Amino acid sequence: MKTFDCERLSRSEQYKLLTGAVSPRPVALVTTMGSHGVNAAPFSFFNVLGVEPPMILFSVGMRADADKDTVRNLKQHPELVVHLVDEATAEPMNQCSAALPYGVNELEFAGLQTVASDVVQVPRIAACPVHFECVLHRLEAFGKVPYHLVIARIVRMHFRDDVVDDHYHVDAQALKAIGRVTGAGMYIKTTAPFCMPAPELPAPKPVAPEPAAPPRS
Ligand SMILES: Cc1cc2nc3c(=O)[nH]c(=O)nc-3n(C[C@H](O)[C@H](O)[C@H](O)COP(=O)(O)O)c2cc1C
Repeated sequence: MKTFDCERLSRSEQYKLLTGAVSPRPVALVTTMGSHGVNAAPFSFFNVLGVEPPMILFSVGMRADADKDTVRNLKQHPELVVHLVDEATAEPMNQCSAALPYGVNELEFAGLQTVASDVVQVPRIAACPVHFECVLHRLEAFGKVPYHLVIARIVRMHFRDDVVDDHYHVDAQALKAIGRVTGAGMYIKTTAPFCMPAPELPAPKPVAPEPAAPPRS
């Protein structure tokens, strides 16, 4: 084994080890809005936090010493839409990661159309297969050069028709989600699943009968 003392690792060494090991990661394409309009950006430090209520989280680093536009917007307007990215939206998602000046709309830059949300004011990206309309639950900075942890509560979910059936089962083959893997610009497709049923509990061992109590004298 190669063992690393986290106290002695530089920021970039930690980043390389973490993003190399925690891989693949789903990609959230997040729309937000602020004083300068709508913003879109992808984040792969992303996952489900829990259900009842449905919650998701992702984290956002800094750009130089300033907040990225997503955080800047969330501080102004506590609503967002989190989209899952599929093979068809991979390229425009990547375009949305460009460090455009605040107020320049990445959606126009990437050629993505929006549709109005049902509950939140932030628009949704039409081409994405899954949209979660969310309200901000918590925004918390942590770390030396801080990452902002974004925890959001989903208030409305939209799934493309072919992606989910009447029993709420999501079809991974139809979804064609992509994941981020280690290496600059590297991604993985998620259309080669394999099945491994949950383990069955071993049958309980027969209990030996209690020894008979000795007769009282
Ligand atoms: C696939 C992918 C995943 C990314 N994941 C993250 C992430 O988890 N956290 C982060 O801060 N930046 C991440 N980035 C970089 C941001 O998308 C990028 O800094 C973007 O310009 C931020 O946009 P904003 O300033 O409009 O918020 C990722 C980029 C790509 C292409």
